[in-house]
Amino acid sequence: MQTTFVMIKPDGVQRGLVADIIGRFETKGLRLVGLRQLTPSMKLAETHYEIHKERPFYEGLIEFITSGPVVAMAWTGVQAISVARNLIGPTDGRTAAPGTIRGDLAMDIGHNVIHGSDGEDTASFELGLWFPEGLVDWTRDAETHIYE
Ligand code: RTP
Ligand code: MG
Repeated sequence: MQTTFVMIKPDGVQRGLVADIIGRFETKGLRLVGLRQLTPSMKLAETHYEIHKERPFYEGLIEFITSGPVVAMAWTGVQAISVARNLIGPTDGRTAAPGTIRGDLAMDIGHNVIHGSDGEDTASFELGLWFPEGLVDWTRDAETHIYE
């Protein structure tokens, strides 16, 4: 089992996509173990996107992510990190395949509705950053039907 960090960005919240997006993860079979709505502080946004500090889009990205509320989530499942990235689709909404969240719901590379951790180290860093109080430990009974 892995746990991954997923965040609905301010454009997704403003556009009323929260229920649709959460529904996709839930019906896929992932288990929701953390959920928070907040407007990220500059410090939180800068720490989260530290890896992109030298990129030309960095300043705009920080401005965008701190512009309003986001929905931060933690999802658990077998290979949850890659499962979530596949549900989300590639960065650019215009070229992301239909069926993916970005392919269905986004038209831009910056305003692309959602973030998902890209590996185990990133997931553990991001989960600790956004959920310092820890995650919810529970059993999803449906997992006996979701997995063999
Ligand atoms: P994310 O980290 O948000 O899940 O997205 P990602 O892995 O698909 O993309 P990444 O390369 O990590 O970029 C992080 C976010 O920066 C914005 N971006 N803008 N204008 C641009 O060329 C550009 N490139 C990236 C996007 O919001 C992207 O999700
Ligand atoms: Mg990324």
